Amino acid sequence: MLRTDKVFAGSVPENYNRYMVPLIFAPYAADLARRAASFTPRAVLETATGTGIVTRALAPKLTPDASYVATDLNPPMLDYAASQQPPDNRIKWQQANALELPFADATFDLVCCQFGVMFFPDRVAAYREAKRVLKSGGHFIFNVWDRIEENVFAHEVTNALAEVFPNDPPRFLARTPHGYHDTALIRHELETAGFSHVTIETKAEQSRAPSARLVAIAYCQGTPLRNEIEARDAGKLEAATDHAASAIATRHGSGAVAAKIQAHVIVAMG
Ligand SMILES: C[S@@+](CC[C@H](N)C(=O)[O-])C[C@H]1O[C@@H](n2cnc3c(N)ncnc32)[C@H](O)[C@@H]1O
Repeated sequence: MLRTDKVFAGSVPENYNRYMVPLIFAPYAADLARRAASFTPRAVLETATGTGIVTRALAPKLTPDASYVATDLNPPMLDYAASQQPPDNRIKWQQANALELPFADATFDLVCCQFGVMFFPDRVAAYREAKRVLKSGGHFIFNVWDRIEENVFAHEVTNALAEVFPNDPPRFLARTPHGYHDTALIRHELETAGFSHVTIETKAEQSRAPSARLVAIAYCQGTPLRNEIEARDAGKLEAATDHAASAIATRHGSGAVAAKIQAHVIVAMG
């Protein structure tokens, strides 16, 4: 993982929330919230909260006396999340690195994390932290993207950008969000960190957008892929986005577009 892969700042939070969240994150947030709420947790920790799509889905499902600490490494993402949340005094927003959680042992009934662990440089260390802050018998619930070939638009954007930068293709999407999909490895790392009763379910969804161009804007300008494109040639961001848009339109048409996305959903007991 490159240092810039975890920089969600500048215009990324707003573009991420406007374009990426409805494109690929919303259906999995509804799924994660439903699974998390089924355990009726009283004390919830969310790591890698981002712009808060899971928080908005899960908080209304919790009991009135619940507490919910929503954390992220990057304050601009968390600030954006807080600005989108309806008033709710059960929620506390706090900057935190998932590898060094600033909470006492056995504090939470449930730790949840949507599409965040791929960004953690040491997953076993992050899993140990999740286990440490969970009460005995509590649940850690998270999801990760499956391989890029199962996520059609991400794959097509990556291939299109390789045509724009043939000597040094931007590989952020394949390397990081889609770089941790080996379910045997995930299970092994969780068990190494002390989790038991690990279940992993592979879940396909449809990614939908009003146009191919909005898909291209989402990936090229609403994720750290933007940093990677601009590092190669800051003046080429629009041209690169246009090229990705026409590659998607060629395959999916000029109107509304839809394609497969796929992720693994993991539940482990602490
Ligand atoms: C793809 S986003 C997912 C955000 C959100 N969970 C969602 O579903 O939209 C990944 C998030 O991980 C955060 N992140 C990266 N490294 C982190 C770390 N070490 N600890 C906590 N959060 C981290 C980023 O700031 C970013 O908000």
